[in-house]
Amino acid sequence: MAGKRDNWGSRLGIIMAVAGSAIGLGNFLRFPAKAATNGGGAFIIPYLVALFLLGIPLMWIEWTLGRYGGGFEHGTAPGIFHSVWKKNRFIKYFGVIGIFGPLVIFIYYSYIESWTMAYSFFALLGKYSAIHDQAGMQSFLRGFQGIEKNSYFNGLHVAYIFFLLTFIINISVIYYGIKGGIERLCKIAMPLLFICAFALMIRVLTLGAPNPLHPGWNISNGMGYLWNPDFSALKSAKVWLEAAGQIFFTLSVGIGVILTYASYLKKTDDVALSGLTAASTNEFAEVILGGSIVIPAAFVFFGPVDIQSIAQSGVFNLGFVTMPLVLNQLPWPEIFGFLWFFLLFLAGVTSSVSLAQPAVAFIEDEFNISRKKAVFIFGAVSFILCQPAIFFLKNGVVDELDFWGGSFFLVLFATIETILFAWVFGMENAWDEIHKGADMRIPKVYKFIIKYITPLFLFFILGMWTWQQMIPVALMKYVNPADRPYVLATRIALVLIFATLGVLVKIAWSRKKVHPARKPA
Ligand code: ALA
Repeated sequence: MAGKRDNWGSRLGIIMAVAGSAIGLGNFLRFPAKAATNGGGAFIIPYLVALFLLGIPLMWIEWTLGRYGGGFEHGTAPGIFHSVWKKNRFIKYFGVIGIFGPLVIFIYYSYIESWTMAYSFFALLGKYSAIHDQAGMQSFLRGFQGIEKNSYFNGLHVAYIFFLLTFIINISVIYYGIKGGIERLCKIAMPLLFICAFALMIRVLTLGAPNPLHPGWNISNGMGYLWNPDFSALKSAKVWLEAAGQIFFTLSVGIGVILTYASYLKKTDDVALSGLTAASTNEFAEVILGGSIVIPAAFVFFGPVDIQSIAQSGVFNLGFVTMPLVLNQLPWPEIFGFLWFFLLFLAGVTSSVSLAQPAVAFIEDEFNISRKKAVFIFGAVSFILCQPAIFFLKNGVVDELDFWGGSFFLVLFATIETILFAWVFGMENAWDEIHKGADMRIPKVYKFIIKYITPLFLFFILGMWTWQQMIPVALMKYVNPADRPYVLATRIALVLIFATLGVLVKIAWSRKKVHPARKPA
């Protein structure tokens, strides 16, 4: 390491940063869409089961492993895994997933985040305020994305400018480091995010029944549409898998980012209560705030029939088509439109900086390179990698990146770290390690859950996935035939990125033989 490792300035700072990483587009778009299409209120049952058996245990595992690895001056999974299982020379290569995953998510997430910034401006300027139907708003979005040329946009220029701005903001935050950049951003952005979300929630909950022709299209029926349970949905394995997938995505566990954030803790800093607090903050933002905005509002304006197809139309449609249409019908559409997209931008930027940090920490920690140079290298490489997501969005590149980076590898990585923690490090050591400096005692039942239930649950998900999905995914059955060359090229690029990271790990460790790692602090 060139110089001393960075640190968090305060406990509140790291909790805000982890909660910021967790609270993202997933809370306000993905969760309500998943709940509405997977049993409504009944979805909460598998969701809570996954929260208590996967989400919270993984939070504790990642906070604890991260802090432990940080003691050996390792901030990413290759070094952290190696510190836990020194005798195994291969384990560090499994850790490559903890840099690869967040990098892959970063290269499309930052682009989508830039749309939210663009739309914040469009809302304020009233650029889409004259559009009052789904087809028009969809066309506006497609024009903006460069998918079609129309009367709203003539190419990708506007989207590209906003992408550049968003990218520069992300890189600048990382450049100023953990305390000076990420912590400072989250301390400002998180309270602002909650203010925007509360304002929108109150606006939606006070909508009443705005359409005199349809008195039943009211807010209590809107809440009922999302929350009335359909218990028959619980018989479907898909609903349980969707709930587990949502828990991973929303808490940002299984990605590698919490490991990196926690590596900047001191050895005596609490992880037990802090991890639980960050998870609870995310759940409040997801279930209470996220569950009270987009779907109930869309019900009130589109009614019980259209809401079915709206809920299934995907998160981009919900966020960038349905919600602006709803807000266009209210007084002060500019202000509420701005609040909505600015909320998404804040949620996005506090997540994307966390996705960038593992790659930066890897370069800094394992190659003795200063933060500023590491950020420069990361900026240059990730900028190039972002380009296909921008230019080939319509060819399924983003969906492919999201599938591998945002779904499959999360579960695989979580399985590896759970086994490592509970079985290699050993549950007794692990339990002592979690409780070092802890401000709470974790209920003893979690010793059993982390050792047996969490890994079994993870194996079950991986097994089900392999059984149901592996062959169709490998054969690109769900991909439009015209897009297959693009998807194939994306897969080849992903293999090359993974292999390059593997080679970098090998180089870093051969250099360490010449300059051995320091002893734990
Ligand atoms: N946890 C982040 C989200 O929910 C990635 O969007």
